[in-house]
Amino acid sequence: MPATIVIGTQWGDEGKGKLTDLFAKDMRYVVRYQGGHNAGHTIVVGGESFALQLVPSGVLYPHITPVIGNGVVVDPAVLIAECQQLNERGIDTSKLIVSGNSHLIMPYHYELDKLGERMLGRNKLGTTKRGIGPTYADKASRVGLRVQDMLDREIFMQKLEVALREKNAVLTKVYNRLSLDVNEIADLYLNELAPKIAPMVQDTVGIIHDALEDGQNIMLEGAQATFLDLDHGTYPFVTSSNPTAGGACVGAGVGPMHITRVVGIAKSYVTRVGSGPFPTELTDETADILIEKGHEYGTNTGRRRRPGWLDLVMLRHAVRLSSVSEIALTKLDVLSGLADIKVCTSYDIDGVKYDKLPAEQTKFQQAKPIYEQLPGWQKDLGSVKQKSDLPKAALDFINLIEAFTKTKVTFVGVGPGRDQFVPL
Ligand code: GDP
Ligand code: IMO
Ligand code: MG
Repeated sequence: MPATIVIGTQWGDEGKGKLTDLFAKDMRYVVRYQGGHNAGHTIVVGGESFALQLVPSGVLYPHITPVIGNGVVVDPAVLIAECQQLNERGIDTSKLIVSGNSHLIMPYHYELDKLGERMLGRNKLGTTKRGIGPTYADKASRVGLRVQDMLDREIFMQKLEVALREKNAVLTKVYNRLSLDVNEIADLYLNELAPKIAPMVQDTVGIIHDALEDGQNIMLEGAQATFLDLDHGTYPFVTSSNPTAGGACVGAGVGPMHITRVVGIAKSYVTRVGSGPFPTELTDETADILIEKGHEYGTNTGRRRRPGWLDLVMLRHAVRLSSVSEIALTKLDVLSGLADIKVCTSYDIDGVKYDKLPAEQTKFQQAKPIYEQLPGWQKDLGSVKQKSDLPKAALDFINLIEAFTKTKVTFVGVGPGRDQFVPL
């Protein structure tokens, strides 16, 4: 099974970090293929918690080579700081490699992200303000700087000067801000950061393909999720990359024929951070229970996540979009103790029943969930290790997910710890 993709099937924070770490035991390479440090992937081992932003979630294993692929956007200062923090905790990051083609997040990208959000006012997207959108915009506009440019002073200066000409005009004339100094940025990126980044820069595509030819197992770790996908998500309330499986091929440089397994991570309920439509969103006391029991605060930004019931219409759509071959269901333990559990199986949109996602965003915005209600269970699942110890009501919940999505649930998460899962 050469290449496995792990993707989020909802709006992020499904537990991709935990599952990637779990699967990494049998892998040789773990590759991040899109996004940047807008991600926050948590791994809990022996009671110790690691919140990774840019470094791939296989890093805790000495046998893994973590790879930052060409589709990722990189702030080199963040990458170096994250590596240092891991090193201080005894985690070796010396095998980490970075694609020279990945684009650099520059200081003006942060500024423009924040200013863009402010300009949108009430319509803001609720971005992580990490400069992600502006960096991908520059990539598409072909004015971006790439990691490899840090290794060539002349090219870097040339590109930076061109970019700053436009950025400074926007900053000063549109937003009434101060302009950024070319020499300050060059000093930071070329003198301070480049010597530390240079040893990491490798031909990641070549290395991945040599490994594939050698029959080694590669894991492609998605960040964000299906409904934050630039093409398939709830536009404009999305991120600026493609977390879906197609994005994994592009962002790592691996053709689809190498992908033998696509693991869709689904939380047993749904959360969303930031703005945008969310048909099954809850605002009652069940919301508070899910937030507190599930510790639903952003790994990265600390923001309270918006909770809601599991939406099977969306999950089935995510399965289709990414050829999801199996589902890993996380946080089943959080549902313990609820009297009833609701699962959305269709929408009412203007009096019409939809059992598929409407193609138009305006309709999705108006979608009212139609639920199936299942009995809950009381048992604390934290120490369950095998299927036969799961309560019948929990198995019924899982069966409904499988029947609706026509996809097997192969793993169930019953706690944040690396060993808190049940194979099915
Ligand atoms: P990611 O962005 O998809 O990697 O997910 P995050 O790490 O942002 O958020 C998932 C949170 O749920 C983290 O705090 C995890 O430690 C935690 N978690 C993951 N799986 C489980 C699970 O099965 N049960 C519980 N209770 N927590 C989990
Ligand atoms: P992981 O990988 C949840 C959301 C932001 C915002 C939108 C756009 O941990 O699941 P951006 O900064 O990317 O331009 O913000 O996307 N968002 C996430 N939500 N989990 C994430 O990552 C996210 N990364 C971005 O909250 O709504
Ligand atoms: Mg997260």
